[in-house]
Amino acid sequence: MTFQGKIAYVTGASSGIGRGAAIRLANDGAAVVLIGRRRRHLDEVAELCGEHAAVLELDVADGAAVAEVLPNALAEHGPPDIVVHAAGITVLGALDALSEDEWDRQMDTNVKSIFHLNRVLWPAMQPTGGAIVIVASTASFAAFPQDAAYVASKGAVLALTKAMALDGAPHGIRVNAVCPGFILTPNLQGYFDGQPDPAAAVRGAAEAAPLARLGTPEDVAGAVAFLAGDDAAFITGTSVLIDGGLLARVPT
Ligand code: NAI
Repeated sequence: MTFQGKIAYVTGASSGIGRGAAIRLANDGAAVVLIGRRRRHLDEVAELCGEHAAVLELDVADGAAVAEVLPNALAEHGPPDIVVHAAGITVLGALDALSEDEWDRQMDTNVKSIFHLNRVLWPAMQPTGGAIVIVASTASFAAFPQDAAYVASKGAVLALTKAMALDGAPHGIRVNAVCPGFILTPNLQGYFDGQPDPAAAVRGAAEAAPLARLGTPEDVAGAVAFLAGDDAAFITGTSVLIDGGLLARVPT
C-alpha cells in the first residue's frame, strides 16, 4: 500500500487514462478525488476505487467553475499529495482548417485547465510538497498530421512540466509527465471508428510500435504510480514515454 494516507486528485477520471490512474492509485492505498464532467461515469469509477473515493463534477476548462468548486473540495478532502492531470480532448485538423473556437477549446482543455487547477491546488501543496503528473503524449515530441492544435497543446504541457518542476523544487513538489503512445481508450476508439477502415486503423496503430500492440490505461497507470511515489523521489522535470517503442523506431 504505497500510497496509504495519501490524497490524490485525478482529472479526467471518468474514462481512459485518468480512470486507470485513479483506480491504480486507489488500489495502492490513496484516497482519490475523481474530477470530471460525467457524474454517472465518475460514480462507477468511485465504486471501483473503494471507500476512500470522492467524486467532483467539474469542467476543468472553466476557470470560474474551478475557482468556485475546487476550494470547497479541498476543504472537504484535504490538500493533495498527488495530482494527475489526465483530462484532455483531441480536436483534429490542420492549423488552417481550425476555427478560433476549436483552437481555444483544445488549448483550454489540455493546457489552461492545468493553470486553473494549479491556482487552487499548488498553494495547498506548498507546505508539505507532493507529486504532480501531467499526461502529455508522444505528440509532445513528434507531430501527427491534421492535428495541429492537439500537437501544440501536448508540446506546451511538456514545457510546462519543466517550468513547474523548477518552481516546485524548493517546496518539495515534483512535476513530471507521462507521454503515452497509442492507448486503447474511448477517445482513441472514437478516432479509430472515424477512419474509413477502423480495423485497419487499429492494426496500423498497434503495428507502429515495436512491441506490436496498443497500450492499455493500466500500462500508463504503472508509470503514473511510479512518478507519484517515493521511488521517484529524485525525479522531476522529466517525462516517461509509454509507447511500446513507437518513437524509438526509425521509419524504414
Ligand atoms: P478519454 O476521452 O477516454 O478520457 C478523457 C477524460 O477527460 C474523459 O473522462 C473526459 O470526460 C475528461 N475531460 C475532457 N474534457 C474535460 C473537461 N473540460 N473537464 C473535465 N474533464 C474533462 O481520453 P484518454 O485517451 O484517456 O485521454 C486522457 C489524456 O491522455 C488526454 O490528455 C489525452 O490527450 C492523453 N493521451 C491519450 C492517448 C491515447 O492514445 N489514448 C495518447 C497520448 C495522450
